[in-house]
Amino acid sequence: MRVDFNVPIKNGRIMDDTRIRESIPTIADLVERSARVILMTHLGRPDGQVDDAYRTRPLANRLAELVSRPVTHVNDCVGPPVEAVVKAMRDGDIVMLENVRFHPGETKNDPAFARQLAALGDVYVNDAFGTAHRAHASTAGIAQYLPAVAGLLMEREITTLGRIMTDPPHPLVAIIGGSKISTKIGVLRSLLQRVDRLCLGGAMACTLLKAKGLNVGRSLVEDDQLEVARSLLASSGQGGGTLVLPLDAVVAPEAIPGVATRTVAVDAVPSDMKVLDVGPMTVERFLQTCDGAAAVVWNGPLGVYEVPPFDRGTDALARGLAGSDAETIIGGGDLVAALQKQHLAERMSFVSTGGGATLEFLEGKTLPGIAALRDKNHA
Ligand code: 3PG
Repeated sequence: MRVDFNVPIKNGRIMDDTRIRESIPTIADLVERSARVILMTHLGRPDGQVDDAYRTRPLANRLAELVSRPVTHVNDCVGPPVEAVVKAMRDGDIVMLENVRFHPGETKNDPAFARQLAALGDVYVNDAFGTAHRAHASTAGIAQYLPAVAGLLMEREITTLGRIMTDPPHPLVAIIGGSKISTKIGVLRSLLQRVDRLCLGGAMACTLLKAKGLNVGRSLVEDDQLEVARSLLASSGQGGGTLVLPLDAVVAPEAIPGVATRTVAVDAVPSDMKVLDVGPMTVERFLQTCDGAAAVVWNGPLGVYEVPPFDRGTDALARGLAGSDAETIIGGGDLVAALQKQHLAERMSFVSTGGGATLEFLEGKTLPGIAALRDKNHA
């Protein structure tokens, strides 16, 4: 079973175990059916080499606590010692393999490595939606050699996000934040065709404001994307959704914790300042836009979230959406931490475990980890 236990770890401590928790229904279901469950995951980007900072033992330990059963950790993911441990497994046992990215064959999707992984089991279950956009040996290649099916988390992700793509409820509002329009243009174009309103925040909005002729001071702007931004502005309301841009902004000379800030209208950004968060009027405008919506899809923070006080806009929007009657679909990544901090994750209808995978899915791309599954059309 491929899981995505790529969780944030600081000084050996797991900072957020959402992805581990979300995989439990599938693991529990398999254990209940007396399967011998061999878990594979990556952690970080160790680049094909053993790196102690990225060992999966803490993940195995955390899972063992959560499922109140032993989880045996092995120091590699292929080879004779691993085969011996797997051979000794009994029905209902759980084994967690070492980081698959310690082998260069993983990210190269090397068929020989995929075959070695496949040789450990009889059936391949992919529950790693968060890594489904990677065509790697443990996410795609392995499916060539074993009957390959989706896990319950994978199924839930595909069903929930898939509905936005194929049968979107209306009125549908999307809120997209983040720093770079270049990384999100695909998803912006795709969503604009499906939503009624598309609210834009984050530094990305500065590129759009500049494209509209406003002065955004020293803000992060992708000057090579101004043409793209202009074409996006021109397509607003042309048969698809309408763009909703920020009204005000929190500005400061730099994103430094505790720096003195000012809140200004977007057409009054001082030349020596940077836009680092949306202001309260913008949050209010975005929330009003969501009023009466059937569903809201939100991806990406509205400001420099990791540096307080520039987390305020994102936090306020999260609080507002938590009280909304609309179905709230949150697109993973940085927002998961934002929601956890305020204990709001449970108050959203759905929080995706994917970051890049969610974006590529909403962009309409084929994800190799899903395409390789036998039951891909059944979710
Ligand atoms: C993620 O955290 O988005 C996934 O685990 C994929 O990780 P990657 O970007 O290193 O492939």
